[in-house]
Amino acid sequence: MLASKRILLIIGGGIAAFKALDLIRRLRERGADVTPVLTRAGEEFVTPLSVSALAGRKVFRDLFDLTDEAEMGHIELSRSADLIVVAPATADLMAKMVGGLANDLASTLLLATDAPVLVAPAMNVRMWQHPATQRNIATLKADGIGFVGPESGDMACGEHGPGRMSEPLEIVAAVERALWAGPLAGKRVLVTSGPTHEPIDPVRYIANRSSGAQGTAIARALVALGAQVVFVTGPADVPPPDGAEVVRVRTAREMLHAVEAALPADAAIFAAAVADWHVTSASTSKIKKTKGGVPTLEFAENPDILATVSTMKSGRPGLVVGFAAETDDVIAHATAKRQRKGCDWIVANDVSEGTGIMGGTENDITLITMDGAEDWPRMSKGEVAARLADRIAQALA
Ligand code: CTP
Repeated sequence: MLASKRILLIIGGGIAAFKALDLIRRLRERGADVTPVLTRAGEEFVTPLSVSALAGRKVFRDLFDLTDEAEMGHIELSRSADLIVVAPATADLMAKMVGGLANDLASTLLLATDAPVLVAPAMNVRMWQHPATQRNIATLKADGIGFVGPESGDMACGEHGPGRMSEPLEIVAAVERALWAGPLAGKRVLVTSGPTHEPIDPVRYIANRSSGAQGTAIARALVALGAQVVFVTGPADVPPPDGAEVVRVRTAREMLHAVEAALPADAAIFAAAVADWHVTSASTSKIKKTKGGVPTLEFAENPDILATVSTMKSGRPGLVVGFAAETDDVIAHATAKRQRKGCDWIVANDVSEGTGIMGGTENDITLITMDGAEDWPRMSKGEVAARLADRIAQALA
């Protein structure tokens, strides 16, 4: 699947460097040509000999290695790859990438390249959570750098949490995604999903029955077509899709902020079941029972995220898709909703009790566009997602 793909693998200095050896093997098994680069710190964890033996070629280590310059300059080395993979990517290496430093071979290659870059971070949980690292990650993502992981779990340093490098096979899958030019390659698509929770007090909230299954399936289908997907999700029942940038939110107002921060995008799909109201009388401490009285909740309307984005004066995504969950007069209500909110398409469905759609595995939708209403047969949410992703790819082509 990776036949004749040229991968420049930069191995940073971290205990996870040992996994880079298996990664080389897995990439080569799939036909990739792996050129390894080992940082000074990386050499403390794996030997140049084992790296070059597994890669079946010389390992590059030093910026000032004249033999290398005679054989192949560092500029050419950085540009001859189809993809640069940094695994493990240490906090230090990522900070250098953010700052544009070029004081060793790895950082120089990363600055000089015009190839896509995929990083697999690995570090101690505190280092990962530090605001400096999080700032750097946001900058690298905005620069178009791809990420795989890190995962949560027990770490070599004895702590527990996010920071563990993804397993070699997960990195291989991300490499395949990064190199596969699907019809949505190079397109950035925003997807909202799941319910929102609107707090009443620290322990109670108002929610709805959305499981997040349809939005997650759509995001997964878009990733499968090669899109760069930002997945803004409320507290859903189903896990988020692999390969998407996941932003977790709780309330409708948080979701709006996350959506605004994720723009610009080529398309935006609003599959979330956003609460229409939040409780203005929400208490910061648990509301206690009082004798003979029940609390009165006061509500205010939430921002309509779909309408806000649809009517943006500048930076509106080229295609905006909304959903309409209705219980009666589905097509009439959904058609009116498309116009009222200003989106391009509406995916309408009947969520009346007995249809089993809300929280279920199937969906029965009508796609409403400016050309009219198109009734799709009842199918699984995965099939709806694949078909919709296909239509989105056609629209953005
Ligand atoms: N939506 C949104 N922000 C809101 C409410 C809804 O972005 N505050 C989006 C949903 O993600 C969905 C679409 O708007 O794509 C329609 O949601 P729906 O709940 O069906 O519509 P409502 O605005 O609640 O309209 P109505 O009261 O007529 O049902």
